[in-house]
Amino acid sequence: MDDSKNLWGGRFTGEADRGFVDFNRSFGFDRRLFAADVRGSIGHCNSLASAGVLTAEEATKIKSGLETILERGIADAGYFDPTEFEDVHSFVESRLVELLGDTGRKLHTGRSRNDQVATDLRLWMRGAVDDLLQRVVAAQEAFLDLAESHVGAVLPGYTHLQRAQPILFAHWCLAYFEMLSRDRERLADCRKRVNVLPLGSAALAGASYPIDRESVARELGFDSVSRNSIDAVSDRDFCVEFVGVCSLIMVHLSRLAEEVIVYSTTEFGFFELSDAVATGSSLMPQKKNPDSMELVRGKAGRVFGHGTSLLAMLKGLPLAYNKDMQEDKEAVFDSFDTVRACLGVTATVLRNLSINEERTLEAASTGYMNATELADYLVRKGMPFRQAHETVGRIVVRAIARAVELQDLSLEELRSLSTLIDEDVFAVLILERTLETKSQTGGTSPQRVTDALAAARRSLAS
Ligand code: ARG
Repeated sequence: MDDSKNLWGGRFTGEADRGFVDFNRSFGFDRRLFAADVRGSIGHCNSLASAGVLTAEEATKIKSGLETILERGIADAGYFDPTEFEDVHSFVESRLVELLGDTGRKLHTGRSRNDQVATDLRLWMRGAVDDLLQRVVAAQEAFLDLAESHVGAVLPGYTHLQRAQPILFAHWCLAYFEMLSRDRERLADCRKRVNVLPLGSAALAGASYPIDRESVARELGFDSVSRNSIDAVSDRDFCVEFVGVCSLIMVHLSRLAEEVIVYSTTEFGFFELSDAVATGSSLMPQKKNPDSMELVRGKAGRVFGHGTSLLAMLKGLPLAYNKDMQEDKEAVFDSFDTVRACLGVTATVLRNLSINEERTLEAASTGYMNATELADYLVRKGMPFRQAHETVGRIVVRAIARAVELQDLSLEELRSLSTLIDEDVFAVLILERTLETKSQTGGTSPQRVTDALAAARRSLAS
């Protein structure tokens, strides 16, 4: 390895082992930080010029060199040879030295790769968070569009995957909307701690040149500068947080995937996935498999794994930088790629999902899901709730024995189990009534759901 490509040759007399050189290399994956590295370097160059460390002329040359490198990197993937460089930082600096000779060798004054890599990763992650925020919003919009195109649709609500109480389909959509709203809040909150500038911390003790860190922060769009140089180069909490936020998004998408998969079975028959996001079987001609949703459910695990690997990587590290930390990037990059792709596919699934409203209505109308309504009816007639619960339980047993729904039992038969029951009971047992009574904030009554949909739309607009 000739010394223009290696940033630390002087101390060494022996040759590096080729196997180790490959093992040590991060350029294969950290070249993703290329644009961030160039931007950060331009910021650093400006601060060196303001501090009088570089002349104005040197700074101009370095900045235009960095711009050239950025343009070439964007235009030509062949510019990056993964076998030639240790990491993205050595790559950019070597290319600069190739262009400018000794002037290029001045850029790293007052900077270490330790504050540089932390800066690059934070810059990159800020963009990643913004990208995910957009994708979460797109998934939320897909939910709202779906809900609004099926305003009247009902769904059986389940607990323990046993029929519980009828709900509006839109209410079900809005449940996922809420989860994704919390994900947006978490992304925005995580972004605050990401957007802190470590540059100027140098190796660990701080820079010994009079650079104006605040002005670098402003130039690079950071909200503030780190307060402790040791912490600044040691900290990867923001990576753990980011992967944590990604993990919860995956939990939400995976739970949705599970429901869509189950509801699309012949046994349920509530939903049908579009051909655009399903596959067939190579053997069984009748099959339509929900691969899109299965992959979303399956990929959740790899993101959780990245969170675990980051925590394990960090827990035994002494301050400050240790090379273990190079392992942070693949965990973060893959989490981002995975969540991003899953959000995209999920939105596509939702935008093309068919709802069999007849089937869901039938399912929501059967299975004694109005039993609680009957108990509440008895409560209104003066029976204590515990006793009403018991009485309705017996009525349900009777209905099961007759293989009918509660409203199909005769008044006589109902009265044989409680004389409090009158003709007016039948109005209470109809599905619409069941929904309408859930009229408190957060409930599934049509009026509440209409209001909630409007509020959800407003929250996206703001
Ligand atoms: N490739 C390294 C990483 O990703 C860059 C920082 C190297 N710093 C050092 N002191 N060796 O962590």
